[in-house]
Amino acid sequence: MPKTKTPTDAIALLKADHRKVEELFEKFQSAKGSERKAALAKQICTELMIHATIEEEIFYPACKDAVEEDQMNQAYVEHDGAKVMIAELLGSSPDQQFYDAKMTVLSEEIKHHVKEEERRGEGVFAQAREAGLDMEALGERMAARKEQVLEQFKTSGLPAPKTRAFTGHMLDQSKPVEAQA
Ligand SMILES: [Fe+2]
Repeated sequence: MPKTKTPTDAIALLKADHRKVEELFEKFQSAKGSERKAALAKQICTELMIHATIEEEIFYPACKDAVEEDQMNQAYVEHDGAKVMIAELLGSSPDQQFYDAKMTVLSEEIKHHVKEEERRGEGVFAQAREAGLDMEALGERMAARKEQVLEQFKTSGLPAPKTRAFTGHMLDQSKPVEAQA
């Protein structure tokens, strides 16, 4: 497949990432076999982690005074929610009971998040554009950082996702449904 040129406009770049991951989620839905599913899941998690990194390191800080604070806070929390699911998927295998459900829930979370960012008029991207952020400069920085992170993941493997908003990670693992007495 010919390599498509990375867009230099920040929003075009982020939207292209969204389309790519949507396509991967669709492929996962019709995928058969553990190996194929695991390979697609790894690709999805990689894409999402790179995307979250460039947004959190570059795009979101630039949006700080341009986008409503509540919306930005939600974006960070949504990212962290997705990271929990990503960590779950990376730490389990397609043969396990809840694997497909986790992928479905992750795809729904991402769908919602993408909608919030791309919403016409009042989404994160629209507000950022409206505020006159330098999308070319941001796009260039994100494209460069993207390559760097991808390279890092290729050489050292996927690291544990880093949370930005979540601080309480104490979870007590119990059985899916408690036996009724
Ligand atoms: Fe995002």
